[in-house]
Amino acid sequence: MSFDLKRIRSQFPSLHITGNGTPRIFLDNPGGTQVAKPVVDRMNHYLLHNNANHGGAFRTSIDSDEVLHEAHAAMADMLNANSPDEIIFGANMTTLTFSVSRSLGRWLKPGDEIVVTRLDHDADITPWTMMAEDRGAVVRWVNVREEDCTLDMADFESQINERTKIVACGYASNAVGTINDIQNVIGMAHAVKALVFVDAVQYAPHGPIDVQKLDCDLLACSAYKFFGPHVGIVYGKYDLLDRLQAYKVRPADNKPPYKFETGTQNHEGLAGTLGAVEYLAWLGEEFGEGFESQFSGMSGRRLKVHAGMAASLQYERLLSERLINGLSQIPNLKIWGITNPNQLDRRVPTVSFTLKGWTPRRIAEKLAEQNIFVWDGNYYALAIMERLKLQEGGGMVRVGAAHYNTLDEVDCLVEAVRGLQ
Ligand SMILES: Cc1ncc(COP(=O)(O)O)c(C=O)c1O
Repeated sequence: MSFDLKRIRSQFPSLHITGNGTPRIFLDNPGGTQVAKPVVDRMNHYLLHNNANHGGAFRTSIDSDEVLHEAHAAMADMLNANSPDEIIFGANMTTLTFSVSRSLGRWLKPGDEIVVTRLDHDADITPWTMMAEDRGAVVRWVNVREEDCTLDMADFESQINERTKIVACGYASNAVGTINDIQNVIGMAHAVKALVFVDAVQYAPHGPIDVQKLDCDLLACSAYKFFGPHVGIVYGKYDLLDRLQAYKVRPADNKPPYKFETGTQNHEGLAGTLGAVEYLAWLGEEFGEGFESQFSGMSGRRLKVHAGMAASLQYERLLSERLINGLSQIPNLKIWGITNPNQLDRRVPTVSFTLKGWTPRRIAEKLAEQNIFVWDGNYYALAIMERLKLQEGGGMVRVGAAHYNTLDEVDCLVEAVRGLQ
């Protein structure tokens, strides 16, 4: 396939920095990706040329507002939203989810129900359970099938009923890489007029997202997971955002998205997010040929970003395959999640494992000695670790590839794990 890793990697300056003379192998991507060059350029330019607060009559403030508007428009392109006014920026996904959940909670009465899943990151669980406690709402939990770490869809269906008001579900698991059948979840929720909040933090760096096609009500992601800076983003249908009451100060704008963007935003972070979307558009420009026909009705940068992500998704399947093949041949090693070669389109290349006789932390430390960066622990996906009874033993080792990783890097990781003693 025509996915030129050399050219792609040339867009990421940090991939070329070595430590102790040995190249660094970044397989810690679900915790945060490396930053593309257009991101650094955009942030640099913002801070040197546009740095000002919002709404002034003078040059830098006018230019700054233009950058902030462009950042909203870029995210609308990336998510295929109807309008830049459907994009809310904030500190990170967790903070935004606490904020949006409190606003939604004002509509709930005692006895209303909220559905969460045991496969989710805690940032898509605790904001809802705390809000439910505040409002006297009932929380229902969807179970996970232990054999392949997928959501139990029959259980999901049984948890939804006429009292369900909100369903919170991840697009992909940051712990085990499962891509959830989110379209089906949205269909089930809408059938009883419940709102759906999708946590797309883990999915966003791996595949194209179309909020109009999904028809989700709200969707969250984080730019630092898709090659940008530390900024969180929530998409919401405009009418919903307009009706929701925001927790805001009185002089701030009363319209979406600004009423949810409390205080002064991380302007350089928004500029960097614009750079991240520009990088994804470059990816589509260079490698998206043959994928564009999947996105009828889109044009310009929007189409490029989606085609780029589709090309990335296809390449990443090779990474999943190589990782799973290699790791599954190591004695006493257990991969938690989908391993069936015919089902690799149901996962992202985030592959987690345990190895008999080793704590996850010790493995991560040994790999770090070889400049191979992986995560260990629960990565805040506490519910699934508890469900699999892995929390006490230190969770799992998570190998999280991104589209800039090479098959050679994957082989290197596999060999290093095989050589552990
Ligand atoms: C699936 C998922 N949801 C939510 C979060 C929280 O994101 P943030 O750090 O932007 O609050 C993470 C971060 O690891 C994540 O992986």
